[in-house]
Amino acid sequence: MSMSITLTVNGSARAIDLDDLRVTLLDLLRERLDLTGTKKGCDRGQCGACTVLVDGRRVNACLALAVSLDGAEIVTIEGLAQGGELHPVQIAFLNHDGFQCGFCTPGQIMSAVGLIREGWAGSDHERVREALSGNICRCGAYQGITEAVLAAQAAMAEREDAA
Ligand code: FES
Ligand code: FES
Repeated sequence: MSMSITLTVNGSARAIDLDDLRVTLLDLLRERLDLTGTKKGCDRGQCGACTVLVDGRRVNACLALAVSLDGAEIVTIEGLAQGGELHPVQIAFLNHDGFQCGFCTPGQIMSAVGLIREGWAGSDHERVREALSGNICRCGAYQGITEAVLAAQAAMAEREDAA
């Protein structure tokens, strides 16, 4: 059975024919839409490497069936920078050394954007760590990452179109 869905991906409307209704959002993004910035780590909802925003909320793309998202708005790491300008969270990750090997970084950044917008970050490292606990980083970059999240909050609050 096949089905057509429409998604808005990083601001562009995409009509997509699904031949296999079991395809995940992660595989759709990486294999059909060539958006390989979203990483596949565990492929079972345990590492957070595949985190994207769906209608503004953090979602593990490996657990979301594409067919269930008809009409949704998806933002991936490729969609954060606007007009050549990095998103405040991306800038904060650079400034606070939040990158190490980099594999889990796109998911961390998407999670950070989501949790700041959800009002999770507050001013406290522990809260940020808890909110990011679904994103596993084996390099131990959490110190830099939590500092980046705290620093990015103010910049995002100033930016009207923070996505
Ligand atoms: S690849 Fe999705 S949570 Fe690990
Ligand atoms: S940056 Fe290397 S595992 Fe996270």
